[in-house]
Amino acid sequence: MLCPHKIRLAVVLSSRKVQVIICSFTKKATRQIALPYLAFLLSSESTATMKLYALFLVVCLSMTSLPPSLSTEQRTLSCDVIVAGGSTAALAAAIAAARDNSQMHVCLTEPTDWLGGQMTSGGVPAIDFGPANKNRGFQPADFADMMDSLGGTGNPGDCWVSTKCYLPRHLVEGWIARTVRGLNNLQVFYNSVIKRVQRQGRVISAVEAVQRVPSSGFDQWGQRFSEAYLDWYSESDSQWFTKTLLRLEGRYDVVVIDATETGDVLVLSEASFHQGVETPDETSTLTLDTCGQAITFPFYMQNGPDSHVNVSRGSPGPFTLKSETWGHVWSYRRVQHVSGPMDESSPGDVSSQNWGGGNDYLGRYFLLPLHDTLQQRSDWQGGVNMTAIRQAEDRAYGWFHYYLTIAPPDVRGNLSMAGSDVSGTGTTLSKIPYLRDSRRSVGLQGYQLQKADFDKNSPGKYGVRYPDTVALGDFFMADVHRLDNCAYPGYVHDITIKPFYIPFRSLTNQDVDNLLVAGKTMAVSFMANAAARMHTGEWNTGLAAGLAASIMATENMTSQDMHNNVDTLQSKLSAFTTLDWNQPREY
Ligand SMILES: *[C@@H]1O[C@H](CO)[C@@H](O)[C@H](O)[C@H]1NC(C)=O
Ligand SMILES: *[C@@H]1O[C@H](CO)[C@@H](O)[C@H](O)[C@H]1NC(C)=O
Ligand SMILES: *[C@@H]1O[C@H](CO)[C@@H](O)[C@H](O)[C@H]1NC(C)=O
Ligand SMILES: *[C@@H]1O[C@H](CO)[C@@H](O)[C@H](O)[C@H]1NC(C)=O
Repeated sequence: MLCPHKIRLAVVLSSRKVQVIICSFTKKATRQIALPYLAFLLSSESTATMKLYALFLVVCLSMTSLPPSLSTEQRTLSCDVIVAGGSTAALAAAIAAARDNSQMHVCLTEPTDWLGGQMTSGGVPAIDFGPANKNRGFQPADFADMMDSLGGTGNPGDCWVSTKCYLPRHLVEGWIARTVRGLNNLQVFYNSVIKRVQRQGRVISAVEAVQRVPSSGFDQWGQRFSEAYLDWYSESDSQWFTKTLLRLEGRYDVVVIDATETGDVLVLSEASFHQGVETPDETSTLTLDTCGQAITFPFYMQNGPDSHVNVSRGSPGPFTLKSETWGHVWSYRRVQHVSGPMDESSPGDVSSQNWGGGNDYLGRYFLLPLHDTLQQRSDWQGGVNMTAIRQAEDRAYGWFHYYLTIAPPDVRGNLSMAGSDVSGTGTTLSKIPYLRDSRRSVGLQGYQLQKADFDKNSPGKYGVRYPDTVALGDFFMADVHRLDNCAYPGYVHDITIKPFYIPFRSLTNQDVDNLLVAGKTMAVSFMANAAARMHTGEWNTGLAAGLAASIMATENMTSQDMHNNVDTLQSKLSAFTTLDWNQPREY
């Protein structure tokens, strides 16, 4: 008698009496398999043995509402700085905090097995420099060093969206691995997501994370993100993973940085946050909570021997090259180029596909509505809409087939999806989706950085420079990828910006004294995020948050104390970066 593989049902029979019934289901199996299986067992042709199994299954189903298995291992660790990670900003923050003070124990959680967020696991290995921060003199020293590690001043992919397109594995296995290894006081917890946050008054005292170890022989990246993601957050062991509950506690005065992609700590610590676009004005506290930025599942295509990856058909589109040629879309985010003309696909090319008219998924916001988000606090799963995420995956596969079909006939036979040696996944999609916005903190005294401070009507060559400036930001525009089902307020049409400044207040939260934010969780408006969300904006704010956390943990400071003494932070930062668009750093 066989059981579906997602259900483990062991029955020991002795003298026709049931002695032991062991039931184990994944939650999903209960819904998707167990009930149809029960119907099958009770179908008209079923034998007596099958009916007996049906009885056991009913007993098992009645037990599935029990709390998660008590066998889940627990580990308690003490940390001085906890970086809840997953983003580019998280990596910068953890490195900065650990480097600043070797006595600091820095704990970094990472949902995948690749650090770097959108630079690596999120599938955007094409650095979005703005016109000003393309100049090395405005990049923090460690960021410039990281860029140099990707082949000096060269552009490995000869792409046109950036001056630096590269294979993500080169960054993960090169600069990132070397840098993290060199910091003995930085402990990285890979394959870990935030589950609970313990808060006492205005202070977070502990953060709990679920760490998973894939079962032997199981390739976790052979599953779609949408298949595995809820399992990442489940505390129970599953057929795919063995789980450990990590309890990260403060040693003395812990500082927590929320640099997750989904604002996990903001939600779980009951801190104030916004999601979606402010309406009717940028300064409004009201937002359209299901209208934000579109997400994308980037993937890689190659010109070379067929990788024989089985790619599902995906969705039918519609898709469009807009007004570009096929070859110009190929070279847009090409990450490897050996030789050949710019706008052609040549043997040895690898092209990252992340195209507006292609795999951008405009169907639905990826974040759950605010109400559903808050409801999920008691059993947190990232607060995302899994149906929308799956549709985004299908959209990516659909774009692959469409783009292949319209390739020039002489090149088409040489093209295929790149294998896991490039993407790091058997599905060939990025490990995590490319997210362009998230849940955003509300800073000290209700502060949120406004794009109005640096748009075309602002005085001078650059945006407003704040006394508590701790980072530079720059891009071509406040870049919004709109969803189809949303009516955005009128002001969102104005996307012009100047190079701008980011104040320390953007890294704070008004309710929690020892919480900092960096990257897409910052205390900024929807439109300010649309300008600051690029790789350099994430890195610069991560660096500032990491150094601030180190100072705050050492000196037992609240974020308000840090704001009152921001010159200490600014002077430390000046060893790594310039904080003035008029003064490039000398290398
Ligand atoms: C590819 O995947 C489809 C759907 O998952 C499956 O039906 C088919 O057998 C697979 N083909 C190969 C060659 O593995
Ligand atoms: C999630 O997305 C799906 C598909 O786009 C949509 O039908 C559904 O209403 C969304 N769920 C919520 C809770 O918003
Ligand atoms: C296709 O691949 C073959 C074998 O590597 C190569 O000789 C040929 O130039 C390629 N054609 C194109 C158009 O890239
Ligand atoms: C840190 O400061 C808080 C008050 O802000 C105080 O309660 C706590 O005891 C201090 N911790 C240490 C180790 O001095």
